[in-house]
Amino acid sequence: MSTATDPDAASTDAATTATVLAEAARRRTFAVISHPDAGKSTLTEALALHARVIGQAGAVHGKAGRRGTVSDWMDMEKARGISITSAALQFSYRDTVVNLLDTPGHADFSEDTYRVLTAVDAAVMLIDAAKGLEPQTMKLFAVCKHRGIPVITVINKWDRPGLDALELMDEVQTRTGLTPTPLTWPVGIAGDFRGVLDRTDGSYHRFTRTAGGATVAPEETLSAEAALAREGDVWTTAVEESELLEATGAQHDESTFLAGISTPVLFASAVSNFGVGMLLDVLVEHAPHPTPRPDQKGEPRPLEEPFSAFVFKVQAGMDTAHRDRLAFIRVCSGVFERGMVVTAAASGKPFATKYAQQVFGRERESIDTAYPGDVVGLVNASALSVGESLYSARPVTFPPLDSFAPEHFAVARIADTGKYKQFRRGIGQLDSEGVVQVLVSDRRGDGAPVFAVVGPMQFEVAQHRMETEFGAAITLQHLDYKLARLTDAESAPVLSKARGAEVVQRTNGDLLVLWTDRWAMGSFAQNNPDVTMTPLVAAS
Ligand code: G4P
Repeated sequence: MSTATDPDAASTDAATTATVLAEAARRRTFAVISHPDAGKSTLTEALALHARVIGQAGAVHGKAGRRGTVSDWMDMEKARGISITSAALQFSYRDTVVNLLDTPGHADFSEDTYRVLTAVDAAVMLIDAAKGLEPQTMKLFAVCKHRGIPVITVINKWDRPGLDALELMDEVQTRTGLTPTPLTWPVGIAGDFRGVLDRTDGSYHRFTRTAGGATVAPEETLSAEAALAREGDVWTTAVEESELLEATGAQHDESTFLAGISTPVLFASAVSNFGVGMLLDVLVEHAPHPTPRPDQKGEPRPLEEPFSAFVFKVQAGMDTAHRDRLAFIRVCSGVFERGMVVTAAASGKPFATKYAQQVFGRERESIDTAYPGDVVGLVNASALSVGESLYSARPVTFPPLDSFAPEHFAVARIADTGKYKQFRRGIGQLDSEGVVQVLVSDRRGDGAPVFAVVGPMQFEVAQHRMETEFGAAITLQHLDYKLARLTDAESAPVLSKARGAEVVQRTNGDLLVLWTDRWAMGSFAQNNPDVTMTPLVAAS
C-alpha cells in the first residue's frame, strides 16, 4: 500500500496503475455468436489463422470428420459433431491483445452461450447470407440488447448464392431495430464474391481464392478507378448501392454502435478467408476495450483497483487424462499473477491460483499474468461455482449471472444404490457448473432430484457425465412440466396444492413452481391473485 510518507511505494503503485490501464486499453474481448451452421467455427479458425496462431485452418476447431480439433474432448461431441464446450483463444493482432471467447454451436446449449456473453465487451454476429435472420440470431440479438453488448454484424457465406445485400440490411433494420451501418459493401452479388468496397475510404479490396480457404487469402487494395477498370458494372453497382445507403444515413457512428443502437456490418466468406482480416481491423479500431464493471450495488470497480474477476464458466472432464475441473474467470480489475491467493467472495475462503491456464479446447498453456478483459482457466477449482466473484485486497461482489427459464424437466434416479456417494457428488458438481439446474422437492426427496434444462441435449450430457465421470449411472424420467416461475415461501404452500404444479427448490434457495401448461397456471393465477409467480429470463 502506498502512503504519503513512502514515495517509492507511491511510484510503484502509479506505475502499476499505468500498466493496468494501458494493458486494458489494448484488450478486445469478444465472442462470435450465430444461429447454428452460420459458420462460427469456420470464422474462429479463420480469425486465428489471420492472427497466425495456427498455420492452417482446421487445427483449432471443427466438426466430426475434419482434422483433429480441440473441442472434441467429449465422445458425445465427436459422435454428434457439435461443439459443446467453450473457452478462450488469446492472440496478438497489431498492437492489440484479442480474447476470442468460444461459444457452443448447438441451440440446446444456449444457456452456456449467454453466460459467455456476460464475459465479453462486444459480440460478432454471423448471419448466413442465404438464410438471413434465423430464430437463434433473433434471440442472441435480444440478449445483446438486454446486456448492452455492442454487436458487429458479419454477413457470411457471400461466396454462395444468397439474398440481396440491400434486402438483408432492410431485414436487420426492421426485425432487430438496430440500424445497420455497413463498413464494407460487397462487390459482386452473393455467389459472385469478388471483393468489398471499403466504405470508409472508397477503395476496393479484391480477394483471391486459395485452395479450400486453408491459408490466408491474399487481399489487394485498388483505387476506385482501378476497381472500375477491373470489375466494370459490378463495381458501379456496389458504388451506387453504397451511395444509396449513405443517403439513408447508414454511416458508421461510434457512439450509436457502443450504445447498441447501430451495428457495423461487414461482408465475408469465412471458408475462403475473405473479409476476415478486415473484421480483425474493425475489432481493433471500433470494438470497446474493458471498462469498469459494476458490482452488485451498481458501483463500478475501477480497472486499476486490486485484482477482481468473476467465474463465467466451470467445466470438468475437458482433458480425459486429467479429470480436473476448470473455472474460467474474466479479469475485471488489477493484475492477475499466477500463484497469487485470492478470496472467493461467497465463502470468504482463500483460493490459491497455482495452476492458471489459457485454454482453448485441447490446447492449454500456463498463464503467468493477466489484465482486465483476459480470461484465465483456474485448475482444480472444485470450490468455485458459476457466477462466483474473486478478489484480492479490496472485496467486491459482482452481480449473480442470470439463470434461464428451464423448459424441460426430468427426475434423476441412481441406477445402482450402492453408488449413492458418487451420485451425490456428481449431482453437486453438475449443478455448480450449470450443466443442468438441480431442483429438489419435499415430494421427491434428495435422492430423486429434478434436472431442469433449457435444451434437452443438456440431459444427455448430464447422464453421460454421471456415468463416465462419477461412476454413478442414472435413469431419467421425463416430467410433463413445461414452464417454471419464481415464487416465495409465502406462496409455496398454496402453490403446492395446485393441480398440475409442483414446488421445487434450487440449491441457492430460490423456490420455483413448475407447471404442466400455461392455461393451468393462468387460471390458478386468476383465482389466486396474491400468489407470487415471477417469470425467469427466457433462454429460448
Ligand atoms: P457453426 O460453427 O456456426 O455451426 O458453423 P460451421 O463453421 O461449422 O459451418 C457450417 C457449415 O457452413 C460448414 O459446412 C462450413 O464449411 C460452411 N461454411 C462456413 N463458412 C462458410 C462460407 O463462408 N461459405 C460457405 N460456402 N460455406 C461456409 P459443412 O458442410 O457443415 O461442414 P464441412 O464438411 O464443410 O466442414
